[in-house]
Amino acid sequence: MRLSNKVAIITGAANGIGFAAAKRFAKEGAKVVIADFNESEGKLKEVELREEGYEALFVQVDVSNKDSVDRMVEQVLSTYGTIDILINNAGITRDAMLTKMKQNDFQRVLDVNLTGVFNCTQAVVPFMIEKGTGKIISTSSVSGVYGNIGQTNYAAAKAAIVGMTKTWAKELGRKGINVNAVAPGFTETNMVASVPEKVVDSMKAMIPLQRLGKPEDIANAYLFLASDESDYVNGTVLHVDGGIMM
Ligand code: CAA
Ligand code: NAI
Repeated sequence: MRLSNKVAIITGAANGIGFAAAKRFAKEGAKVVIADFNESEGKLKEVELREEGYEALFVQVDVSNKDSVDRMVEQVLSTYGTIDILINNAGITRDAMLTKMKQNDFQRVLDVNLTGVFNCTQAVVPFMIEKGTGKIISTSSVSGVYGNIGQTNYAAAKAAIVGMTKTWAKELGRKGINVNAVAPGFTETNMVASVPEKVVDSMKAMIPLQRLGKPEDIANAYLFLASDESDYVNGTVLHVDGGIMM
């Protein structure tokens, strides 16, 4: 198994890509922390994984709130005693054209998608430095790398993740910590379900592989970057988008 006894915090793991990753990591022997705002879904997913014989723990967290993140990390440490992997996967959209975007929708997306990544990483890094090892993976997006109509707020946060990833790779590499990002393309989750059909169709038409991503496609990339197989990969942005833009 590729993650035997590793403790992995996956934010936003109650749904979509995060849950696919939780399942994949659990199958590879990890102790998985489902760190999510959505308590009802999170508890259901904890039970689902436990019933399949895996080690899983749901902890409610709002990644945009530093105190909430600190409490989550304390609970993980008191349950499992260590943290080996952090997947900064939680994210939201509040799409609107620039001229119509409300200030609070701009700010909320930055709070969750950008400050949330900062909060979680800052909270776990001292423990990884102490151990001299760790893997941090954050979720960017095709929108952050290339821009996307209607996503000023989201693209800003997802582009910033690339900058933070490269900065942390430089700061933390010498401490034995690998820091990387994954930039998914359009992937079949609730997030895309709310996108107008004609936009999804036009995106699909641009993808050489001619299909949207599946949550498992992204989970596989997280797994590679979380496993020992990527020990010499640092500061990279792994595009998992069917080749939508090159
Ligand atoms: N490509 C080309 N033209 C587009 C377009 C696109 N992707 N999106 C909108 N337009 C055009 C519309 O056709 C329309 O043109 P006309 O004025 O000529 O009619 C114009 O822009 C205005 O669009 P709307 O009428 O839709 O404007 P609205 O204010 O009602 O809605 C919107 C704007 C909320 C941004 C809506 O268009 C929308 O939801 N678009 C999709 C945004 C999107 O792609 N989000 C991705 C979510 S998934 C995700 O975020 C995951 C990830 O990382 C990729
Ligand atoms: P999703 O909407 O299915 O799941 C997101 C999860 O994050 C939910 O369980 C939600 O409760 C949780 N969450 C939201 N706000 C939170 C907060 N403040 N604190 C803790 N948890 C919170 O979305 P999906 O598609 O699985 O997205 C996962 C990640 O992948 C996000 O960062 C998203 O931006 C990114 N992404 C998604 C793409 C897609 O096409 N679905 C494409 C590119 C990137």
